Amino acid sequence: MNVDGKPYRSIWVNSDGWSVDIIDQTRLPHEFSVLNLQNLAQACAAIRDMAVRGAPLIGSTAAYGYYLALNTDGSDKNLATAYDELLQTRPTAVNLRWALDRIRGKVAALPAAQRAENAFAEAAAIAELDVETNRQIGLHGLKLIEQIAAQKADDEAVNILTHCNAGWLATVDWGTATAPIYMAHEAGIPLHVWVDETRPRNQGASLTAWELQHHAVPHTLIVDNAGGHLMQTGAVDLCLVGSDRTTRSGDVCNKIGTYLKALAAADNGIPFYVCLPSSTIDWTISDGLQQVPIEQRNGIEVSQVSGRLKNGEITSVSIVTEGTPVANPAFDVTPAKLVSGLITEAGIIDATESEIGRAFARDSSN
Ligand code: MRU
Repeated sequence: MNVDGKPYRSIWVNSDGWSVDIIDQTRLPHEFSVLNLQNLAQACAAIRDMAVRGAPLIGSTAAYGYYLALNTDGSDKNLATAYDELLQTRPTAVNLRWALDRIRGKVAALPAAQRAENAFAEAAAIAELDVETNRQIGLHGLKLIEQIAAQKADDEAVNILTHCNAGWLATVDWGTATAPIYMAHEAGIPLHVWVDETRPRNQGASLTAWELQHHAVPHTLIVDNAGGHLMQTGAVDLCLVGSDRTTRSGDVCNKIGTYLKALAAADNGIPFYVCLPSSTIDWTISDGLQQVPIEQRNGIEVSQVSGRLKNGEITSVSIVTEGTPVANPAFDVTPAKLVSGLITEAGIIDATESEIGRAFARDSSN
């Protein structure tokens, strides 16, 4: 997608032909800066410290990180240790393991000297697949927006609420929840996006609003607590969110606060759709509440907020007195019964075990 008129992806191969560039998302929206990754440690740090985040981008960065590790040392030992190190960087997004398994599956049987080259090709294939998958999600979701637009007056906007950043910055391109939005906008459908700020790290405020602004998509930033009121007063036609891990029976784990939006949507009869690639489905589990481990992050994310001062300096300030106890669960689980449908690369499907299994031709019993 575009940044100041120039098309970007969130991760790409540097002009040197071998190292990998990412956008440092911890600096947005105040600074657009690019980080260069040359080894495993840098790739792990980029994921752990959330310079990259969002389930599909975590997967793609892990894939390139695995390649960088093998580029340094293609031995069996490094094949195993790099896998483990990358897997431990973030616990929730299942795309991480999916991408690592794909790379290891391609290169494990090869001689050590050929592993890096093949891992590089597979990482590039994973990135391309992500772009195409999100494009498909966009095309399927576009039909939903078209249906809602058809029930409105010509110039009346379709109001969409989104949570966190499931935008192009969370993927390689297009985004998941934003792909239908960008496509509808490009098709000339009047729309407006309510952007949840998404405390504590404010991915909505710092990333989604930034993305939409750069694409001239009409949007308004709201505090997380405003969504229920907006739904009650008829200001929301559709909720579109992403997912970090969806169980084979359709329970959706996503950024903390997603569940509350789903509850409010259900209470107000507003369609609540989750946009995800099939790489986000965890086929090994069916009960999201019991089986998805919830990442507990540092309390400093809650007790402090960061922002830019008038003099341009980016800084953090404390919003509590020292010693205030803080909890910081980073994700929650929305039960399948609250999900109107899953917008996937295979189409819009019910959030049920049978539909998910059928759409991806999987035996959902294993
Ligand atoms: O902690 P984050 O920023 O990695 O969480 C991101 C989300 O929760 C996104 O909604 C999810 O990964 C879907 S991204 C297409």
